[in-house]
Amino acid sequence: MKKLRVGIAGLGEFGELHTLVFSQLPYVEVKRVCSRTESRAREIADRYKIPSFCTNYDELATADDLDVISVVNFGKNHKRVVIPALESGKHVLVEKPMADKVEDAELMVNAAKTSAGKLMVAHICRFMPQYYRAKELASSGRLGKIALIQTQRNNHYSTLSPGRKKNPLRETAIHDIDLALWITGGRLESAHGYKQFNNSDQEADCCVATAKLDNGVICTFASSWLRRDAQPAGVDARMDIIGTGGELHIKMPPDNLVFIDDHSHSHFNPETSLSPVTIRQTALAGEIEYFLKCVLLDETPEVITPEAALESLRTTIKIDESCSEIR
Ligand SMILES: NC(=O)c1ccc[n+]([C@@H]2O[C@H](COP(=O)([O-])OP(=O)(O)OC[C@H]3O[C@@H](n4cnc5c(N)ncnc54)[C@H](OP(=O)(O)O)[C@@H]3O)[C@@H](O)[C@H]2O)c1
Repeated sequence: MKKLRVGIAGLGEFGELHTLVFSQLPYVEVKRVCSRTESRAREIADRYKIPSFCTNYDELATADDLDVISVVNFGKNHKRVVIPALESGKHVLVEKPMADKVEDAELMVNAAKTSAGKLMVAHICRFMPQYYRAKELASSGRLGKIALIQTQRNNHYSTLSPGRKKNPLRETAIHDIDLALWITGGRLESAHGYKQFNNSDQEADCCVATAKLDNGVICTFASSWLRRDAQPAGVDARMDIIGTGGELHIKMPPDNLVFIDDHSHSHFNPETSLSPVTIRQTALAGEIEYFLKCVLLDETPEVITPEAALESLRTTIKIDESCSEIR
């Protein structure tokens, strides 16, 4: 079988993880990695045995020896690679947030419509079994009418590099905002929240917002970067969904989901998920393999369409703009 030829644009912490996952797939050849910093590009190429590297994103985006590009930069920089890559017929996986402006995201969605390539935004939580199970339970009606979704997502301040720290709503709560829209099928009607500036005058690091969706669901999105260094590395995330017929509680870590209704109280072990998306060791591998399966079978990546990602970004920005500042 002819291997898919992949390029990776951006070699920060997550760009390296993308490189690791892609380079382990037997039907993929990671041909080139790209970073502005030559020493970093060389280091990653050496570490993962990638045959070439470059320091010019434009060159990578338009290279004619690549089928797929994975864009793992900051949201504000994604458009520069995504649009020329789509215009040259490549398939593009781009990290969330897909952009920092709605207009840029719209340009990407439009470029995808006329491209021979596919575009998928890497909303990784849609590939995590516990959230997928939440979507299944909501869609099956077992939660009844969903009344309330409460979410929380906390990180350490030090784990995010300065250019990424726009604020926790746009960078981290966007996962929960996307999930709330996906699970309930609603759209934002109104929002109000607060954002605090504790570590910097420029970047908020603690946000709480309440949103009402057009299907009547009330959501709260809380996200901070104030986890203490004594806490283990990684995210502390929770989601509670309260419906008229049942409730469910997701907590990470440990990754689990509890579903309770009038007749049962069940714990869901993600490894036993019947989710139709491929889940190998990690959600990142599941997400990447799902995208590549769509490329190979010429199917639309329905789990997260470009339009759905655009709606999640638009909603996140509106919620952010509704926030009063606390300084
Ligand atoms: N789905 C998830 O759970 C998840 C988790 C983590 C990150 N992410 C996303 O992945 C993306 C990268 O995050 P990360 O953790 O890898 O961040 P990071 O370690 O800070 O890496 C920063 C990336 O941005 C690029 N960059 C930084 N400053 C730049 C500038 N001034 N001009 C051009 N490029 C610049 C770097 O490119 P060079 O290589 O050229 O230096 C590098 O690729 C973000 O969009 C983030 O939201 C997603």
